[in-house]
Amino acid sequence: PEITFVDFAGNETKVDVPIGTSLMQAAMENMVEGIEAECGGSGSCATCHCYLTADWQGKIAAPDTSESDMLEMVSEPTDLSRLSCQVLVSDEHHGLQVHLPESQY
Ligand code: FES
Repeated sequence: PEITFVDFAGNETKVDVPIGTSLMQAAMENMVEGIEAECGGSGSCATCHCYLTADWQGKIAAPDTSESDMLEMVSEPTDLSRLSCQVLVSDEHHGLQVHLPESQY
């Protein structure tokens, strides 16, 4: 599925992401900047914060309790905040836009 990463300045990077890959992995593998991912994807560092868009709410499984807890630690969380390592791409996610915060800290 094609996923578009949008950085804080509005620059878009379109990436064809294999099914089962996390948004964090997809960003890393394609040199998309804006994600630190210090813990390597175990959901414990909150430095892979991203925002989905409102039209995708309900089409992607909501954050579980531990992800929600971690999202309270990011700077500028919103209802659309996610940890990008906890969102796995499936073929229903074609066209998803992932917005990256100005900073992870
Ligand atoms: Fe650490 Fe996602 S990479 S919480």
